[in-house]
Amino acid sequence: MAAREPKIVSSRATAEGSASPQGMSRRDAVKWMTLAWIGFAAAVGAGATAMLRFLFPNVLFEPPTVFKAGPPSDYALGVDERWKEKYGVWIVRNTAEIYSLIAVCVHLGCTPNWLAAQNKFKCPCHGSGYYISGINFEGPAPRALERAAISVSPDDGQLIVDKGQKFLFEQGQWTDPKAFVKVG
Ligand code: FES
Repeated sequence: MAAREPKIVSSRATAEGSASPQGMSRRDAVKWMTLAWIGFAAAVGAGATAMLRFLFPNVLFEPPTVFKAGPPSDYALGVDERWKEKYGVWIVRNTAEIYSLIAVCVHLGCTPNWLAAQNKFKCPCHGSGYYISGINFEGPAPRALERAAISVSPDDGQLIVDKGQKFLFEQGQWTDPKAFVKVG
């Protein structure tokens, strides 16, 4: 039986992609190098992104929850909207007390509007309506608006509103002394 002749591979064929003596063609080598570089670039990019997030964290700067709102004498009877935009509350005065309503609809969190002509708060999103007291009476809102803690500063007589402390009508919390300020 005749011995088999060894197969001769030309340098041209190797250069164009045939198998090299080590078992990998030049084309394969280029392909793997490209993939390696893509992987390296992706890793570097991910690392840089993580570093940027570390240096510039995704912090939401919200206004402080406690603020001074001026003396009670600054407030006439009715709904005062001067703090709505900055602190998200209304200050309401009636003949007996001052309280602070949080301007967030308890349905899905939209900001209601005070409609003075209709004497009610009305949510523009799905139509919930609230009396001046904050109690809901129409639309999908399942409960009353929340009230923020309010007090008079012993230092300068200004009202202090604290949105960090909330009082819920449904839980009988509106009678809490921190939920209103008595006025004559
Ligand atoms: S968010 Fe106010 S009614 Fe839906």
